[in-house]
Amino acid sequence: MNRKYRKTVIAANWKMNTLPSQVKPYVDNLKQILPRPKWCEVILCVPYTHITATVKACRESRFSVAAQNVSEFKKGAYTGEVSAAMLRDLGVRYCIIGHSERRQYHGEDDMLINKKVLAAMEAGINPIICVGETLEQREKDLTMEQVALQVKTALAGVPAEKMRRVVIAYEPLWAIGTGVNATPEQANEVCNTIRAIIRGLYGARIARAVPIQYGGSVNEKNAESLFAQPDVDGGLVGGASLDPEKFAVIINAANQE
Ligand code: PGA
Repeated sequence: MNRKYRKTVIAANWKMNTLPSQVKPYVDNLKQILPRPKWCEVILCVPYTHITATVKACRESRFSVAAQNVSEFKKGAYTGEVSAAMLRDLGVRYCIIGHSERRQYHGEDDMLINKKVLAAMEAGINPIICVGETLEQREKDLTMEQVALQVKTALAGVPAEKMRRVVIAYEPLWAIGTGVNATPEQANEVCNTIRAIIRGLYGARIARAVPIQYGGSVNEKNAESLFAQPDVDGGLVGGASLDPEKFAVIINAANQE
């Protein structure tokens, strides 16, 4: 974290878990443990079906609501899709874009992810752009190359003045849902490289203002050491975010003055 230059962002990625009726008890519980996290931004990334309940439950709290996906199209004959304007209208402020599970199971590639980033931003939704290497790429020493390609393609056409609204999440695929997190040093090394890529595209002032999260088996035990790294500006938390008590411990690891 480096709060002098940028905010710290802790996001819960619920994926396709929980039921809409479980939102209110969860948020009430979290609010009770952590009434007003002051030093970091807390975001709940929920399934589409949970959005209305989450926005309602998060009123009078400091928690923001995010979607986990968005259409690249503005509107029209795209059965089953949800547009950025629809999300915005419900009170959604952020959206995960390019999560590895969507790349893997839904065929999303860097070009599509770029279209989604642009569509989200045009409607006033801040993207949380996920990038990361496979185990094979890491073993072949291709991590930086892979991440550079993903970051550059995702940001194509995003003007400098809008970069303040972008969050990047570095999520190595081998760490997601495996219980094997990247070490704090590994996470910092890649987050630092991502910042250097942004510096190359937009200059130093913008690069130091963009929050870059780490994601992949973040839990209540490893959060503090990960967030202590200078270039790791919080986390995108899957499994451990489903339990409000564990998630509160993770938030608190970042919610330090
Ligand atoms: P995990 O998931 O924390 O369960 O590893 C992280 C993510 O996929 O965003």
